[in-house]
Amino acid sequence: ATVYVPRDSAARSVGADEVAQALQHAGGRGDFALDVVRNGSRGMLWLEPLVEVVTPQGRVGYGPVAPEDVDGLLAAGMLDGADHPLRLGIVDELPWLARQNRVTFARVGVTDPLSAEDYEAHGGLAGLRAALELAPADVVAEVTASGLRGRGGAGFPAGIKWKTVLDCADELKFVCCNADEGDSGTFADRMVMEGDPFMLIEGMTIAAHAVGASEGYLYIRSEYPDAVATMRRAIGVAREHGWLGKGILGSALDFDLHVRVGAGAYICGEETSMLESLEGKRGMVRAKPPIPAIEGLFGRPTVVNNVLTLATVPVVMAKGAQAYERLGVERSRGTQVFQLGGNIAHGGIVETAFGITLRELIEEYGGGTHSGRPVRTAQVGGPLGAYLPESMFDLPMDYEAFAAAGAMVGHGGVVVFDDSVDMAAQARFAMEFCAEESCGKCTPCRVGAVRGVEVIDRIVAGTHRDENLALLEDLCDLMTEGSLCAMGGLTPLPVRSALTHFPDDFLGGRRLLE
Ligand code: NAI
Ligand code: SF4
Repeated sequence: ATVYVPRDSAARSVGADEVAQALQHAGGRGDFALDVVRNGSRGMLWLEPLVEVVTPQGRVGYGPVAPEDVDGLLAAGMLDGADHPLRLGIVDELPWLARQNRVTFARVGVTDPLSAEDYEAHGGLAGLRAALELAPADVVAEVTASGLRGRGGAGFPAGIKWKTVLDCADELKFVCCNADEGDSGTFADRMVMEGDPFMLIEGMTIAAHAVGASEGYLYIRSEYPDAVATMRRAIGVAREHGWLGKGILGSALDFDLHVRVGAGAYICGEETSMLESLEGKRGMVRAKPPIPAIEGLFGRPTVVNNVLTLATVPVVMAKGAQAYERLGVERSRGTQVFQLGGNIAHGGIVETAFGITLRELIEEYGGGTHSGRPVRTAQVGGPLGAYLPESMFDLPMDYEAFAAAGAMVGHGGVVVFDDSVDMAAQARFAMEFCAEESCGKCTPCRVGAVRGVEVIDRIVAGTHRDENLALLEDLCDLMTEGSLCAMGGLTPLPVRSALTHFPDDFLGGRRLLE
């Protein structure tokens, strides 16, 4: 039987390699006939290592499996999908997965990430083939019509960005993929790179055709060694198969791709800072304009998109803009890959159309807190996102609805906290984080964040509370209005949301609950 054991680093961190070894060992002894295939993760992280066995009924899951469970599972008839306390059922039918709408993540956890054959057998390259049949402007029009917006967080329409690059007359243009994924509580980019790397390569290649670029760079954070290794191997396989290089798939398109690894600075996820880093310089933010679409890498027109954005392009091209645009609400079209984390019972990947509420994500998918205590708040959109109180959990996931509520959807990370959280400490942390990660180019952020920590400390200590609260408001205004980039500009969001929704926590004396 074919047995799948994830090679995703989340699964590896809880022993997937050891489980795979135990299975291979049993196969090697000749006791059982089995082939172990290392797949990506299905994103049900509380079930990892999730072992799947191919049976005539479908892929049967067992999890979480420990290495010492392997012999017992095999003896119980796991290879035939037999019953066992760890048996979960047919994986595709598990309610958590079956209720989702996996569009971008359709292959993640299903295929062998480095198998070109598996990729094509599961719909890979259909988008690129369709795109190569079209003139660049028509590809741009299709992506625009799909309503796909930048999944890195800002939600700028991808097609409009591409049109800006296409309209530049330069001979040399670039496609850069931002895989810095610095937001705490987000891991979808990593799971794409580890679980379906060809999809990202295909998306970047389609972008190259659409805008007339000949070279691409994939900027991956150093904290993701598995993603780096997998992408490098996948690029090698893609070159061997003629999916990268000269005359891609027999067309006139020449495009090649290179991986570059960051060095641990959060600010290198900001697009201009990332470009500086790619050019070999220190990651400092550039003033915009000029926008990278016009003057980007080495001063050339450059598409800079997040992993999820580029990874979604192949399916948009394969299935058509309308199929994608039909999903979602208002101006938030298609699906978002939500990442549930923090104090949550069932953390992982939930891909659904926009419009799902935070409550459905946290309660129905997440199953409440891991600690079993009541949920008090969730921070949505990374460390620069707002903390939302339970009373706002019916807000639909929609870029504009979130913005109107003083929050942001961002990269789709949802970090849950129970009632032991101290919101003044969280607000302080936001300022501290900004002070730590500021690139130092502008004063509102570089100095403001340090002053912010001090002001919050004085408020909590009760020193001239009213004056200091007014000062904090003023400081937040200044940082929002005066910062050069989103680092300083958005830090007030978590701070203000904590102050607005949890004012009592700033009165001092709130102690962590037992
Ligand atoms: P932005 O709103 O300044 O720009 C969005 C994108 O649109 C940029 O790529 C910009 O170059 C492009 N753009 C703007 N006008 C354009 C035009 N006329 N033609 C073509 N392209 C145009 O936002 P920014 O600073 O790029 O991103 C901020 C967001 O990043 C935040 O909202 C936050 O959600 C997110 N973020 C994500 C993180 C992650 O780990 N994924 C980490 C930190 C922040
Ligand atoms: Fe640098 Fe902060 Fe200014 Fe951004 S806001 S340019 S990170 S100092």
